[in-house]
Amino acid sequence: MGRGSIELRDGIHWVGARDPEMRLFDLIMHTEHGTSYNAYLVRGSKHTALIEMVKQGFEASLLDNIREVMEPREIDFIVCNHTEPDHTGALAALLEAAPRATLVATGRGAHFLGEQQNRELAITKVKAGDSLDLGGRTLSFVPAPFLHWPDSMFTYLEEDHILFSGDVFGAHFCPPPGVITDDAPGIATEALHKATRHYYLTIMAPFAGHLQKGLAKLDGLTLAMLCPSHGPVRRADVQGLVELHRDWATPRSAPLAVVFYASIYGHTKQLAEAVARGLEERGVPTTLLDLESADPWAVLHTSWEADIIAVGSPTLNGGPAPHAAAVLAGLDPHRAKGKRFLAFGSYGWSGEAVSLLTERAAALKMTTIDSPPLRVIFAPTKEDLAQATEAGHRLSDPS
Ligand code: FEO
Repeated sequence: MGRGSIELRDGIHWVGARDPEMRLFDLIMHTEHGTSYNAYLVRGSKHTALIEMVKQGFEASLLDNIREVMEPREIDFIVCNHTEPDHTGALAALLEAAPRATLVATGRGAHFLGEQQNRELAITKVKAGDSLDLGGRTLSFVPAPFLHWPDSMFTYLEEDHILFSGDVFGAHFCPPPGVITDDAPGIATEALHKATRHYYLTIMAPFAGHLQKGLAKLDGLTLAMLCPSHGPVRRADVQGLVELHRDWATPRSAPLAVVFYASIYGHTKQLAEAVARGLEERGVPTTLLDLESADPWAVLHTSWEADIIAVGSPTLNGGPAPHAAAVLAGLDPHRAKGKRFLAFGSYGWSGEAVSLLTERAAALKMTTIDSPPLRVIFAPTKEDLAQATEAGHRLSDPS
Protein backbone atom coordinates (compact mmCIF):
# COMPACT_ATOMS: atom_id res chain seq x y z
CA MET A 1 0.00 0.00 0.00
CA GLY A 2 2.72 2.46 1.04
CA ARG A 3 2.75 5.99 2.37
CA GLY A 4 1.38 5.12 5.73
CA SER A 5 4.02 7.29 7.37
CA ILE A 6 3.33 11.00 7.77
CA GLU A 7 5.98 13.71 7.99
CA LEU A 8 5.25 16.14 10.84
CA ARG A 9 8.44 18.14 10.35
CA ASP A 10 11.67 17.61 8.51
CA GLY A 11 13.13 14.50 10.16
CA ILE A 12 10.09 13.82 12.37
CA HIS A 13 7.54 11.25 11.20
CA TRP A 14 4.46 9.51 12.52
CA VAL A 15 4.98 5.79 11.86
CA GLY A 16 2.26 4.26 14.04
CA ALA A 17 -0.71 2.05 13.26
CA ARG A 18 -4.42 2.62 12.75
CA ASP A 19 -7.09 0.46 14.38
CA PRO A 20 -10.37 1.91 13.09
CA GLU A 21 -12.42 -1.18 14.02
CA MET A 22 -11.49 -1.27 17.71
CA ARG A 23 -14.66 -0.86 19.80
CA LEU A 24 -13.70 -1.98 23.33
CA PHE A 25 -10.46 -0.80 24.92
CA ASP A 26 -8.99 -2.15 28.18
CA LEU A 27 -12.32 -3.97 28.74
CA ILE A 28 -13.83 -0.76 30.17
CA MET A 29 -13.96 1.75 27.35
CA HIS A 30 -16.36 1.69 24.47
CA THR A 31 -15.27 3.75 21.48
CA GLU A 32 -17.14 4.38 18.28
CA HIS A 33 -14.14 5.87 16.48
CA GLY A 34 -11.53 3.12 16.80
CA THR A 35 -8.07 4.30 17.76
CA SER A 36 -4.50 4.70 16.62
CA TYR A 37 -1.30 3.48 18.28
CA ASN A 38 1.11 6.30 17.65
CA ALA A 39 4.84 5.91 17.14
CA TYR A 40 7.20 8.65 16.05
CA LEU A 41 10.62 8.65 14.41
CA VAL A 42 12.89 11.52 15.38
CA ARG A 43 16.11 11.87 13.39
CA GLY A 44 19.08 13.93 14.49
CA SER A 45 22.40 14.31 12.70
CA LYS A 46 23.96 11.54 14.84
CA HIS A 47 21.18 9.28 16.02
CA THR A 48 17.60 8.26 15.39
CA ALA A 49 15.04 7.53 18.08
CA LEU A 50 11.73 5.78 17.77
CA ILE A 51 9.35 7.14 20.37
CA GLU A 52 6.66 4.65 21.38
CA MET A 53 5.53 1.55 19.52
CA VAL A 54 2.26 -0.21 18.75
CA LYS A 55 0.11 -3.06 19.99
CA GLN A 56 0.79 -6.70 19.17
CA GLY A 57 -0.81 -7.55 15.84
CA PHE A 58 0.20 -4.20 14.29
CA GLU A 59 3.93 -4.92 13.92
CA ALA A 60 3.75 -5.05 10.11
CA SER A 61 2.16 -1.63 9.91
CA LEU A 62 4.81 -0.13 12.20
CA LEU A 63 7.72 -1.71 10.34
CA ASP A 64 6.31 -0.84 6.90
CA ASN A 65 5.88 2.78 7.97
CA ILE A 66 9.40 2.95 9.40
CA ARG A 67 10.81 1.49 6.16
CA GLU A 68 9.21 4.32 4.21
CA VAL A 69 11.54 6.64 6.12
CA MET A 70 14.64 4.55 6.93
CA GLU A 71 15.90 1.06 7.56
CA PRO A 72 14.72 -0.13 11.00
CA ARG A 73 18.18 -1.56 11.74
CA GLU A 74 19.49 2.02 11.84
CA ILE A 75 17.30 2.93 14.82
CA ASP A 76 19.55 3.72 17.80
CA PHE A 77 17.03 4.28 20.58
CA ILE A 78 13.49 3.17 21.34
CA VAL A 79 11.94 5.51 23.88
CA CYS A 80 9.13 3.93 25.92
CA ASN A 81 7.13 6.67 27.61
CA HIS A 82 4.69 4.07 28.88
CA THR A 83 4.91 0.28 28.81
CA GLU A 84 1.28 -0.80 28.70
CA PRO A 85 1.18 -3.49 25.97
CA ASP A 86 -0.92 -1.37 23.61
CA HIS A 87 2.41 0.46 23.16
CA THR A 88 4.96 -2.30 23.71
CA GLY A 89 3.27 -5.34 22.15
CA ALA A 90 5.38 -4.94 19.01
CA LEU A 91 8.68 -4.79 20.89
CA ALA A 92 9.87 -8.35 20.18
CA ALA A 93 9.32 -7.95 16.43
CA LEU A 94 10.85 -4.50 16.46
CA LEU A 95 14.01 -5.65 18.23
CA GLU A 96 14.48 -8.34 15.59
CA ALA A 97 14.39 -5.62 12.93
CA ALA A 98 16.36 -3.10 15.00
CA PRO A 99 18.82 -5.26 16.96
CA ARG A 100 21.24 -2.48 17.89
CA ALA A 101 18.57 -0.24 19.43
CA THR A 102 18.79 0.65 23.12
CA LEU A 103 15.53 1.01 25.02
CA VAL A 104 14.97 4.14 27.09
CA ALA A 105 12.49 4.10 29.98
CA THR A 106 12.02 5.11 33.60
CA GLY A 107 13.13 2.64 36.27
CA ARG A 108 9.60 1.27 36.62
CA GLY A 109 9.28 1.15 32.85
CA ALA A 110 12.51 -0.84 32.59
CA HIS A 111 11.21 -3.28 35.20
CA PHE A 112 7.90 -3.71 33.37
CA LEU A 113 9.66 -4.24 30.01
CA GLY A 114 11.83 -6.95 31.54
CA GLU A 115 8.79 -8.71 32.97
CA GLN A 116 6.95 -8.47 29.65
CA GLN A 117 9.80 -9.83 27.53
CA ASN A 118 11.28 -12.24 30.10
CA ARG A 119 14.80 -11.76 28.77
CA GLU A 120 17.77 -9.46 29.11
CA LEU A 121 17.19 -6.15 27.36
CA ALA A 122 19.53 -3.25 26.67
CA ILE A 123 17.76 -0.49 28.59
CA THR A 124 18.92 2.95 29.64
CA LYS A 125 16.97 4.04 32.72
CA VAL A 126 16.25 7.75 32.81
CA LYS A 127 15.14 10.14 35.51
CA ALA A 128 14.07 13.78 35.69
CA GLY A 129 16.65 16.06 34.08
CA ASP A 130 18.19 13.35 31.88
CA SER A 131 18.42 13.99 28.16
CA LEU A 132 19.58 12.32 24.98
CA ASP A 133 21.50 14.15 22.26
CA LEU A 134 20.52 12.93 18.81
CA GLY A 135 22.69 15.54 17.09
CA GLY A 136 21.00 18.92 16.80
CA ARG A 137 17.95 17.46 18.48
CA THR A 138 17.70 16.83 22.21
CA LEU A 139 15.17 14.61 23.92
CA SER A 140 14.66 15.48 27.57
CA PHE A 141 12.80 13.16 29.89
CA VAL A 142 10.16 14.18 32.39
CA PRO A 143 8.91 11.30 34.56
CA ALA A 144 5.20 11.72 35.25
CA PRO A 145 4.11 8.67 37.24
CA PHE A 146 0.58 7.25 36.99
CA LEU A 147 -0.17 8.82 33.63
CA HIS A 148 -1.36 6.23 33.18
CA TRP A 149 0.85 3.70 34.97
CA PRO A 150 3.64 4.16 37.54
CA ASP A 151 6.17 3.92 34.69
CA SER A 152 4.96 6.93 32.71
CA MET A 153 7.04 9.84 31.47
CA PHE A 154 6.87 12.67 28.98
CA THR A 155 9.61 13.12 26.38
CA TYR A 156 10.23 16.68 25.23
CA LEU A 157 12.02 17.51 22.01
CA GLU A 158 13.67 20.74 23.03
CA GLU A 159 14.62 22.34 19.71
CA ASP A 160 11.22 21.65 18.06
CA HIS A 161 9.10 22.26 21.16
CA ILE A 162 7.30 18.97 20.69
CA LEU A 163 5.98 16.97 23.63
CA PHE A 164 5.59 13.21 23.26
CA SER A 165 3.02 12.82 25.96
CA GLY A 166 2.16 9.12 26.22
CA ASP A 167 -1.49 8.53 27.09
CA VAL A 168 -1.98 12.15 28.21
CA PHE A 169 -3.81 14.32 25.65
CA GLY A 170 -4.84 11.14 23.86
CA ALA A 171 -8.17 10.09 22.43
CA HIS A 172 -9.48 6.87 21.02
CA PHE A 173 -10.20 8.44 17.67
CA CYS A 174 -8.73 6.99 14.50
CA PRO A 175 -8.07 9.73 11.93
CA PRO A 176 -8.81 8.89 8.29
CA PRO A 177 -6.02 7.32 6.21
CA GLY A 178 -3.33 9.84 5.33
CA VAL A 179 -4.27 12.14 8.22
CA ILE A 180 -2.77 12.34 11.72
CA THR A 181 -2.95 15.99 12.84
CA ASP A 182 -6.03 17.57 14.39
CA ASP A 183 -5.88 20.59 12.07
CA ALA A 184 -6.18 18.49 8.90
CA PRO A 185 -9.30 18.63 6.75
CA GLY A 186 -11.47 15.60 7.45
CA ILE A 187 -11.16 15.72 11.25
CA ALA A 188 -14.58 16.07 12.88
CA THR A 189 -13.72 18.59 15.60
CA GLU A 190 -16.77 18.08 17.80
CA ALA A 191 -16.49 14.30 17.65
CA LEU A 192 -12.80 14.55 18.54
CA HIS A 193 -13.58 16.78 21.51
CA LYS A 194 -16.15 14.27 22.78
CA ALA A 195 -13.72 11.39 22.28
CA THR A 196 -11.02 13.33 24.17
CA ARG A 197 -13.35 13.95 27.10
CA HIS A 198 -14.47 10.31 27.09
CA TYR A 199 -10.85 9.16 27.02
CA TYR A 200 -9.96 11.48 29.91
CA LEU A 201 -12.91 10.27 31.96
CA THR A 202 -12.16 6.60 31.35
CA ILE A 203 -8.38 6.45 31.41
CA MET A 204 -7.04 9.53 33.18
CA ALA A 205 -9.70 10.62 35.68
CA PRO A 206 -8.74 7.99 38.30
CA PHE A 207 -5.32 9.66 38.34
CA ALA A 208 -6.51 13.27 38.29
CA GLY A 209 -4.22 14.27 41.16
CA HIS A 210 -1.23 12.82 39.33
CA LEU A 211 -2.31 14.61 36.17
CA GLN A 212 -2.30 17.92 38.02
CA LYS A 213 1.28 17.23 39.13
CA GLY A 214 2.28 16.08 35.66
CA LEU A 215 0.84 19.17 33.98
CA ALA A 216 2.68 21.38 36.47
CA LYS A 217 5.92 19.86 35.17
CA LEU A 218 5.10 21.30 31.74
CA ASP A 219 4.81 24.86 33.04
CA GLY A 220 7.40 27.01 31.35
CA LEU A 221 7.87 24.70 28.37
CA THR A 222 7.02 26.05 24.94
CA LEU A 223 4.64 23.57 23.37
CA ALA A 224 4.19 23.77 19.62
CA MET A 225 2.84 20.26 19.15
CA LEU A 226 1.52 17.49 21.39
CA CYS A 227 2.20 13.96 20.19
CA PRO A 228 0.11 11.58 22.29
CA SER A 229 0.08 7.81 21.98
CA HIS A 230 -3.52 7.60 20.76
CA GLY A 231 -5.51 9.67 18.31
CA PRO A 232 -4.54 12.82 16.43
CA VAL A 233 -1.36 14.79 16.93
CA ARG A 234 -2.48 18.06 18.49
CA ARG A 235 -1.40 21.37 17.09
CA ALA A 236 -4.69 23.22 16.42
CA ASP A 237 -4.94 24.67 19.95
CA VAL A 238 -2.18 23.23 22.09
CA GLN A 239 -2.52 25.55 25.07
CA GLY A 240 -6.29 25.22 25.00
CA LEU A 241 -5.99 21.43 25.24
CA VAL A 242 -3.52 21.67 28.13
CA GLU A 243 -5.84 24.04 30.00
CA LEU A 244 -8.84 21.80 29.31
CA HIS A 245 -7.02 18.88 30.94
CA ARG A 246 -5.96 21.07 33.86
CA ASP A 247 -9.59 22.04 34.32
CA TRP A 248 -10.82 18.44 34.09
CA ALA A 249 -8.22 17.33 36.65
CA THR A 250 -9.23 20.02 39.16
CA PRO A 251 -11.72 18.82 41.80
CA ARG A 252 -15.20 20.31 41.50
CA SER A 253 -16.09 23.02 43.96
CA ALA A 254 -19.67 21.70 44.26
CA PRO A 255 -20.57 17.99 44.17
CA LEU A 256 -22.78 16.14 41.69
CA ALA A 257 -25.01 13.28 42.83
CA VAL A 258 -26.69 10.32 41.20
CA VAL A 259 -29.38 8.10 42.67
CA PHE A 260 -29.60 4.76 40.90
CA TYR A 261 -32.42 2.39 41.62
CA ALA A 262 -33.71 -1.02 40.59
CA SER A 263 -37.32 -1.53 41.53
CA ILE A 264 -39.75 -4.34 40.72
CA TYR A 265 -42.95 -3.08 42.33
CA GLY A 266 -42.16 0.62 42.81
CA HIS A 267 -41.29 0.58 46.52
CA THR A 268 -37.54 1.06 46.08
CA LYS A 269 -38.34 3.68 43.45
CA GLN A 270 -40.32 5.66 46.04
CA LEU A 271 -37.32 5.58 48.35
CA ALA A 272 -35.03 6.67 45.50
CA GLU A 273 -37.21 9.67 44.77
CA ALA A 274 -37.18 10.63 48.43
CA VAL A 275 -33.37 10.33 48.66
CA ALA A 276 -33.00 12.45 45.51
CA ARG A 277 -35.39 15.02 47.00
CA GLY A 278 -33.22 15.24 50.10
CA LEU A 279 -30.11 15.88 48.02
CA GLU A 280 -31.81 18.51 45.92
CA GLU A 281 -33.24 20.23 49.00
CA ARG A 282 -29.59 20.75 49.99
CA GLY A 283 -28.72 22.22 46.59
CA VAL A 284 -26.93 19.19 45.12
CA PRO A 285 -27.65 18.67 41.39
CA THR A 286 -28.95 15.10 41.32
CA THR A 287 -29.66 12.63 38.53
CA LEU A 288 -32.23 9.90 39.19
CA LEU A 289 -31.62 6.82 37.04
CA ASP A 290 -33.78 3.71 36.69
CA LEU A 291 -31.31 0.86 36.26
CA GLU A 292 -33.86 -1.32 34.47
CA SER A 293 -34.07 1.02 31.49
CA ALA A 294 -30.81 3.00 31.61
CA ASP A 295 -28.07 2.36 29.07
CA PRO A 296 -25.31 0.40 30.89
CA TRP A 297 -22.58 2.68 29.47
CA ALA A 298 -24.50 5.74 30.70
CA VAL A 299 -24.74 4.13 34.14
CA LEU A 300 -21.01 3.50 34.15
CA HIS A 301 -20.09 7.01 33.06
CA THR A 302 -22.57 8.68 35.41
CA SER A 303 -21.14 6.74 38.34
CA TRP A 304 -17.61 7.80 37.40
CA GLU A 305 -18.60 11.47 37.16
CA ALA A 306 -20.62 11.64 40.38
CA ASP A 307 -19.18 12.67 43.72
CA ILE A 308 -22.15 11.24 45.60
CA ILE A 309 -23.73 7.89 44.69
CA ALA A 310 -26.85 6.27 46.10
CA VAL A 311 -27.92 2.81 44.95
CA GLY A 312 -31.34 1.38 45.69
CA SER A 313 -32.16 -2.27 45.29
CA PRO A 314 -34.69 -4.81 46.47
CA THR A 315 -33.31 -8.06 47.87
CA LEU A 316 -33.54 -10.93 45.40
CA ASN A 317 -32.74 -14.38 46.76
CA GLY A 318 -30.51 -12.93 49.46
CA GLY A 319 -28.62 -10.39 47.35
CA PRO A 320 -28.98 -7.15 45.42
CA ALA A 321 -30.49 -6.98 41.94
CA PRO A 322 -27.78 -7.64 39.31
CA HIS A 323 -28.30 -4.15 37.84
CA ALA A 324 -27.60 -2.59 41.24
CA ALA A 325 -24.56 -4.77 41.90
CA ALA A 326 -23.25 -3.81 38.45
CA VAL A 327 -23.02 -0.14 39.46
CA LEU A 328 -20.39 -1.01 42.04
CA ALA A 329 -18.75 -3.62 39.81
CA GLY A 330 -18.06 -0.79 37.36
CA LEU A 331 -16.08 1.19 39.95
CA ASP A 332 -12.54 0.60 41.15
CA PRO A 333 -10.83 1.94 44.29
CA HIS A 334 -8.86 4.60 42.37
CA ARG A 335 -12.04 5.99 40.91
CA ALA A 336 -14.37 5.41 43.87
CA LYS A 337 -12.21 6.50 46.81
CA GLY A 338 -13.80 9.33 48.76
CA LYS A 339 -17.14 9.37 46.94
CA ARG A 340 -20.03 9.44 49.38
CA PHE A 341 -22.31 6.40 49.19
CA LEU A 342 -25.70 5.27 50.39
CA ALA A 343 -27.48 1.96 49.78
CA PHE A 344 -31.19 1.60 50.33
CA GLY A 345 -34.04 -0.67 49.35
CA SER A 346 -37.34 -2.33 49.99
CA TYR A 347 -37.47 -6.06 50.77
CA GLY A 348 -39.92 -8.76 51.74
CA TRP A 349 -38.16 -11.48 53.75
CA SER A 350 -34.57 -10.85 54.76
CA GLY A 351 -33.22 -7.64 53.16
CA GLU A 352 -29.50 -8.35 52.70
CA ALA A 353 -29.11 -6.14 49.62
CA VAL A 354 -28.45 -2.92 51.54
CA SER A 355 -25.70 -4.36 53.73
CA LEU A 356 -24.05 -6.20 50.82
CA LEU A 357 -23.96 -3.08 48.65
CA THR A 358 -22.60 -1.06 51.58
CA GLU A 359 -19.85 -3.62 52.23
CA ARG A 360 -18.82 -3.48 48.60
CA ALA A 361 -18.76 0.34 48.67
CA ALA A 362 -16.59 0.30 51.80
CA ALA A 363 -14.17 -2.09 50.05
CA LEU A 364 -13.97 0.48 47.26
CA LYS A 365 -12.91 3.07 49.90
CA MET A 366 -16.09 5.07 49.50
CA THR A 367 -17.46 7.04 52.45
CA THR A 368 -20.59 5.12 53.36
CA ILE A 369 -23.65 6.68 54.96
CA ASP A 370 -25.27 3.60 56.43
CA SER A 371 -26.53 4.37 59.88
CA PRO A 372 -29.34 3.74 60.38
CA PRO A 373 -29.67 1.37 57.38
CA LEU A 374 -32.30 2.62 54.95
CA ARG A 375 -34.26 -0.55 54.34
CA VAL A 376 -37.98 -0.97 54.37
CA ILE A 377 -40.27 -4.01 54.50
CA PHE A 378 -42.47 -3.88 51.38
CA ALA A 379 -44.24 -0.50 50.96
CA PRO A 380 -42.57 2.53 52.56
CA THR A 381 -44.61 4.50 55.05
CA LYS A 382 -44.65 8.29 55.25
CA GLU A 383 -42.06 7.97 58.03
CA ASP A 384 -39.87 5.74 55.88
CA LEU A 385 -39.94 8.30 53.08
CA ALA A 386 -39.08 11.08 55.52
CA GLN A 387 -36.15 8.96 56.70
CA ALA A 388 -35.05 8.55 53.05
CA THR A 389 -35.17 12.31 52.50
CA GLU A 390 -33.16 12.75 55.70
CA ALA A 391 -30.60 10.26 54.36
CA GLY A 392 -30.37 12.45 51.25
CA HIS A 393 -29.62 15.40 53.51
CA ARG A 394 -26.86 13.49 55.30
CA LEU A 395 -25.47 12.30 51.99
CA SER A 396 -25.15 15.91 50.86
CA ASP A 397 -23.08 16.84 53.90
CA PRO A 398 -19.31 16.37 53.42
CA SER A 399 -18.52 16.68 57.14
FE1 FEO B 1 -2.37 3.55 25.82
FE2 FEO B 1 -2.08 3.16 29.18
O1 FEO B 1 -1.88 2.68 27.41
